[in-house]
Amino acid sequence: MGQIVFAGAMSHVLDPEYYERACGAAGRRAVEQCMAAVARMGGRFSASQPDALIVVADDHLNAFSFNAVPALCVRIGREVQRMTQDHAEAFDRVLDHMPPRYALHEELANQILEQGLAAGFDLALSWEAPVDHAFLSPVNTMHGTRAIPPLVPIWVNCFVAPQPTARRCFAFGRHIARVVSANPWRVGIIATGGLSHFPELSLPRVGETDSAFDRKLIHCMERGEHDALLELTGDELHKAGEHEFLNWMVLIGAVTPAPADVRYFGELPRINLAAVEWRLG
Ligand SMILES: [Fe+2]
Repeated sequence: MGQIVFAGAMSHVLDPEYYERACGAAGRRAVEQCMAAVARMGGRFSASQPDALIVVADDHLNAFSFNAVPALCVRIGREVQRMTQDHAEAFDRVLDHMPPRYALHEELANQILEQGLAAGFDLALSWEAPVDHAFLSPVNTMHGTRAIPPLVPIWVNCFVAPQPTARRCFAFGRHIARVVSANPWRVGIIATGGLSHFPELSLPRVGETDSAFDRKLIHCMERGEHDALLELTGDELHKAGEHEFLNWMVLIGAVTPAPADVRYFGELPRINLAAVEWRLG
């Protein structure tokens, strides 16, 4: 029987140069500590001898566009390419140093997609969307020079209203857990982004965070109190700069009621950096 052998969530701009420019020496120090925690999590993931890694992240309106904004999208096919952009955001420049192509776990992705549709999740699919820093910064920081197992990238629409609800993301995570348990593979899952921050899309609030809201979320994750998280509304998440927590809700649904351990939490003026790992029974 298949098993989720690792679950972790982390911020996804993991670039000391970026934070040095944005927040000075304290920014560099904080993200280096966060990256060290993510790398240690990656060591534990690799030691679990995984067959696949599901990566739940959000689109930053660079893989997709206002032409179509999928609520939940599964990347299928045999491999995925690193995003290249002529006018990359500063935090996507870090991609230049990363491998350009990544194997996908085609069968796991297909099952999540096909059985998801059968179960009532109207999932979008993509054969050709590339992956940006939200996927590749955490994946490469986790692995360093070690081999990366086949990926299953999944996008959640965190930015463009109306987003899927926290409850729906959690339910989709439950679906992923059912697919994994019905197959023979050892699977890791990570969710990326956050915690509280306001991106360029919310320009007037760039530089603000809501640490009290972060602590509320962390409290619930540490205790496995997931019912409270199901009640989070889009409005609350938006006001607290927690839009990317929807990615984390998918992961929480996949591992509930497992409690979490905080491996790193650090407040910066620009964003609160975090790395969290779940204790799987
Ligand atoms: Fe982001």
